[in-house]
Amino acid sequence: MDDEHNLTQDATISNDNAAASQPDENDDDDSHMETNLDSPTADNRFTTAGASTQPPSTPITIPPGQSIFINPPSLGLTRQRLFEIEDTIEFSAQDFERYWPFIDNVWIRNRAASTSKETNSVTEWYQCRLRKANDRTPYVPRPTPEGKVGRKKRVRENVSCEMTLRVVRIEGATTSYRIVRGGAKDVKHSHDLDYVDGVKRNSGIMDTARREGIKGYQPSSTFHRMWAEPEKMLESGGKFLKISDCRNVTMTWRNENPTVVLKVHDGFASRVSTGPKPRNTMTPVTIAHATPYQSVTPTRAALPTPVLPQDTLQYPAHARGFLEPYLPQTNATSTAPHVTLTYASSLDSRIALAPGLRTVLSGPEAKAMTHYLRYRHDAILVGVRTALADNPALNCRLEGAGGYGGKGVANQPRPIIVDPHARLIIHPDMKMLQMVKQGKAKGPWIIIASNTSPHPVAVRTLKAHHGEYIKVHYGYHPGEPAGFDWPSIFGILHNEGIKSVMVEGGGCVLSELLKEQHASLIGSVIVTIAPTFLGKGGVPVSPDSRFDTQGQPMATRLREVKWQAMGQDDVIMCGKIGGMQAAAANGNGLLDGIEEFSQQAVAVANGPAAEQVEASNDSHA
Ligand SMILES: NC(=O)c1ccc[n+]([C@@H]2O[C@H](COP(=O)([O-])OP(=O)(O)OC[C@H]3O[C@@H](n4cnc5c(N)ncnc54)[C@H](OP(=O)(O)O)[C@@H]3O)[C@@H](O)[C@H]2O)c1
Repeated sequence: MDDEHNLTQDATISNDNAAASQPDENDDDDSHMETNLDSPTADNRFTTAGASTQPPSTPITIPPGQSIFINPPSLGLTRQRLFEIEDTIEFSAQDFERYWPFIDNVWIRNRAASTSKETNSVTEWYQCRLRKANDRTPYVPRPTPEGKVGRKKRVRENVSCEMTLRVVRIEGATTSYRIVRGGAKDVKHSHDLDYVDGVKRNSGIMDTARREGIKGYQPSSTFHRMWAEPEKMLESGGKFLKISDCRNVTMTWRNENPTVVLKVHDGFASRVSTGPKPRNTMTPVTIAHATPYQSVTPTRAALPTPVLPQDTLQYPAHARGFLEPYLPQTNATSTAPHVTLTYASSLDSRIALAPGLRTVLSGPEAKAMTHYLRYRHDAILVGVRTALADNPALNCRLEGAGGYGGKGVANQPRPIIVDPHARLIIHPDMKMLQMVKQGKAKGPWIIIASNTSPHPVAVRTLKAHHGEYIKVHYGYHPGEPAGFDWPSIFGILHNEGIKSVMVEGGGCVLSELLKEQHASLIGSVIVTIAPTFLGKGGVPVSPDSRFDTQGQPMATRLREVKWQAMGQDDVIMCGKIGGMQAAAANGNGLLDGIEEFSQQAVAVANGPAAEQVEASNDSHA
């Protein structure tokens, strides 16, 4: 839905226009930040009057005293005063905090603030959002991939406003705020308050929408519930609020609660919720829309079929069974996550041709299987050298995972990078963060040493993508290089709700976890073996040698081993490692089953049947 339905270009001045934008059930614009505004009026003041039709008349009845707004008194008037700043305005600290969020869409704070010890005050300068920066380069839309619809943004090149103000915070027995206009008395805004409200919503109105949304209400229901109190809606600057604003403001909450079934307010009959809108292009399908309170039951044929991203993978149901015994099982009593070690290896147990070199070893079928494994785990863990070498996406592209036909980020594993010295450079172009932006992955957690301080920009960028740095004590273990203690890492992850971890590499991390002392931490091992030799220069997966009590070297074997051919060339080996000590204690490295089998085979060879076998062999000859 085009934003221009909100804001016409033949505008006339009218701050008192109480009409609001027509709600649009099909409002697809996901930006509440900026709208498409570009035409000055005759007197060069930008207004939005005449743009809107009436707010939705609503059958939602509100029992007295049950407002969803927490508006301070005389909010409409105070907003107007804080917009015009005709005279100095004094606030107590408490009032400032109550009123300012409702006008913060107009004023942008400059970076510099000054402190005066004499007056015990801090002064901050603000400028109108529509002030044009001197160095502002003309907006050139970024090219979008074929088929992708560009966002309608930033078309207000002709609008500029010189209004500024000062906010002085005066410390004392009681802290107070003084708000004073900046610049000359005759400088006025070049637009009205409605105009900025159309450009950007204020935090106060967005907070109201968020409060309602996180109670589990559908965005369209929240929108109509808010309009059930039109005076409060208008005084708080919600005239141009859109359903997409109500949706966007709860996106984080939705991503964290993908399984919540959204409800509607009493009196609001909704259309069927289809969950968060996939960001990819959808085949346009016309649905008969309800007027706000009519219910529409779309027919199956009329429902838009989401177009899955092109890189979506399928892994057939019949190929899943053999993996099942090695996958995490729900166990409410366990105190540590199920850990699966999984990687693609050459015949000489190398996982890359050289350190830092990404090497494709397995075929497409094994790749699809890896994504199925990701689907079945809560997290994927890699060492920092893998993250540096491969720039991995660390998400799940299996059909049904979030972003690939699934809701929110459901069934997307949490990417975890072990990076004690915060060596990974966090930037928005890295694949991991791109995936988050596209709604196809969870934000990564980066495990760093407690004495490491990542760059503040990295922290901000990570947080902006729902990621976190997790500080863990960087221990020293006698006789070993300093490093994290794996039981601590898995313990912390378990406390954070991660019940299963798929460790995908690289060589250093896998070799460490295959060490005898970590056997009890590992639930299963799933290795794709490719018919390739990578040579001695490759990155090996090889745990330290083991020795028995006499100092004799001994083999380490997995138990419950299963082999499965995969695609043209590869073979998958699944096994369990916990308890391998018992198997290895036989000393000969043979599995119990194999030993039994070989004993039976010897018995058969020496028994009465042996003559018959020989006779039949002879007759063949
Ligand atoms: N074929 C496959 O399936 C596969 C899968 C993944 C990766 N790979 C390949 O493997 C290669 C990378 O493997 P890699 O062995 O070089 O590195 P890696 O295992 O990915 O990362 C090793 C680094 O992780 C940190 N680390 C690991 N264990 C730690 C602990 N207990 N405590 C603290 N820090 C710990 C250390 O960082 P610091 O150095 O900062 O101390 C260490 O240098 C790449 O070429 C990649 O392409 C292949």
